[in-house]
Amino acid sequence: MLREALRIGSRRCFSYKSVRRPNLGATSAPKAEPEKTADAVPAATGTGNGGLAKQLRAKILATGPITVAEYMREVLTNPQAGYYMNRDVFGREGDFITSPEISQIFGELVGIWLVAEWRKMGSPSPFQLVELGPGRGTLARDVLKILTKFKLGAEFSMHMVEVSPFLSKAQAQRFCYTHETLPEEAQLPHYQVGTTATGTKAYWHRRLEDVPQGFSLVLAHEFFDALPVHKLQLANGQWQEVLIDVAPKSEPEAANFHYVLSKSQTPVSRVFHPMPGETRQTLEYSLETERQVGLLAERLERDGGIGLIMDYGHFGEKTDTFRAFKQHALHEPLLEPGTADLTADVDFKLVKSTAETRGHLHCCGPIEQGLFLSRMQGEARLEQLLANALPENEAIIRSGYEMLTDPKQMGSRFKFLAMFPGVVAPHLEKFPVAGFS
Ligand SMILES: C[S@@+](CC[C@H](N)C(=O)[O-])C[C@H]1O[C@@H](n2cnc3c(N)ncnc32)[C@H](O)[C@@H]1O
Repeated sequence: MLREALRIGSRRCFSYKSVRRPNLGATSAPKAEPEKTADAVPAATGTGNGGLAKQLRAKILATGPITVAEYMREVLTNPQAGYYMNRDVFGREGDFITSPEISQIFGELVGIWLVAEWRKMGSPSPFQLVELGPGRGTLARDVLKILTKFKLGAEFSMHMVEVSPFLSKAQAQRFCYTHETLPEEAQLPHYQVGTTATGTKAYWHRRLEDVPQGFSLVLAHEFFDALPVHKLQLANGQWQEVLIDVAPKSEPEAANFHYVLSKSQTPVSRVFHPMPGETRQTLEYSLETERQVGLLAERLERDGGIGLIMDYGHFGEKTDTFRAFKQHALHEPLLEPGTADLTADVDFKLVKSTAETRGHLHCCGPIEQGLFLSRMQGEARLEQLLANALPENEAIIRSGYEMLTDPKQMGSRFKFLAMFPGVVAPHLEKFPVAGFS
C-alpha cells in the first residue's frame, strides 16, 4: 500500500506545490530542549503580561498556593490573557517552530499514513478528520491536500478541537474557502464553521466531547505537551505536590512566584496511583492528559477510528521537564506569565496504558519521528520535491527534512504513538501498521 501510495504521489508530484517554509536559521529552534531541574530555578521576578501576573497573585493571596497544573492552564488558556488565546506564537517571529511548519513532507506522510490505515480498515465512509490543537492549521491543510489528491470516494468532514479564538480563525484562513464564527447564543457543539475549496465542511469545537460520534481519524501534534501537569514528590512515603506561591517580599506590581512543597496531601496527590514498577521520587502527572486520552480511547473503541499522537516525550522515566519558551530560547516558566509558552514532555507510558485500559485499544509505538518518516519513504518524497524545486529553495527543503529526522535535532525526541480499536489487533498483526514496523 505504501509503495502504491508513493507511486500515486510521484505521478502527481507536478501538482504538489513546493511550499517555501521558514528558513531554519540559528535563531529558530523546536521546543524540545534538554530538561532542566526546577531546583536550580530561582524565584521569578518581573511583570510581563502584568494583568495575568496580578490576577494569579491575587488568587494565591486569597486562597493559597496553586498547583503547577492550574498555573499552566491559566497561563496558556485564560480567556482574556492566555498565551494561545489572541496571537500567533509560531514560526520565526514567534516563540517556537513545529514539524508541520518546517516541511510539507511531515503532513503529507501523515496524510498518506492515514489513507493507508483507513483503507486497511475497509475504507469506512463517512468519516471525520479530527485534529486536537491544530495551531496554524498547517498539518490539517497538508493532510487535506493528500485526502483530496487520493480521491478517496468517501464522504468526510473536518473537526478541529481548539480553545483559541485567534488560532481558530488562522486555521480556517489556511484551509477554508469560506468560514464564519457562530454567535454564542447559537448553543451548538461547534463555534465556527467553514467550507474548503473542494466543498468539505469544517467545524471548530472547544472540547473533544463536542465532536460528533462517528468513525474518526484523530491527529494530535504537540497538543498533549500543552496540557497541564501536576508536579508530585514522594516525601515520607506519601505523594505530595509542588505548588506555586507568591515569593516573599513580592510587590503587587512585580508579582514574583516560587515553588513550595504542599504541607499535606492535595486532592491530586491523594488520587494519584503510580504505575506498577514506578521508582521515581519526583514526577510530572497530567490528569488532563489521562482524561482526554480516556475520552479518545472510549470514542475510538465505540465508533471506530484511528488515533495518531505525535509529540516530544518519554516512557515514564523523566522527572522534571516543565519549561517555558520565548523567542526560540528556554525561559523561566514562572517569569512574566502569559508571555512565553509553557510545556512539559508527554508521558507516553501513561498515554499508552490509559488507551489500553480505558478503551482496550491496540497501540503501536511510541517510535521515534525520524524512524517513522523514513519508513514512510520520506527520502523518496524529499527527492521528488527537490527534483521539482526552484534552485533557491533546495537548501531549505533539504535542511527542513534533516531537522525533522536527524536524531540530534527532532528525529529522536519526537515520538509517534498509533491507536486502533482492540478488535482490529489480529488484522494488524497480519497486515502490519505502516511506519511502525
Ligand atoms: C503547541 S501548539 C501545537 C500546534 C500544532 N499542532 C502544531 O504542531 O503546529 C498547541 C495547540 O493546542 C491548542 N490548545 C492548547 N490547550 C488546549 C486545550 N486545552 N484544548 C484545545 N486546544 C488547546 C493551542 O491553542 C494550539 O493550537
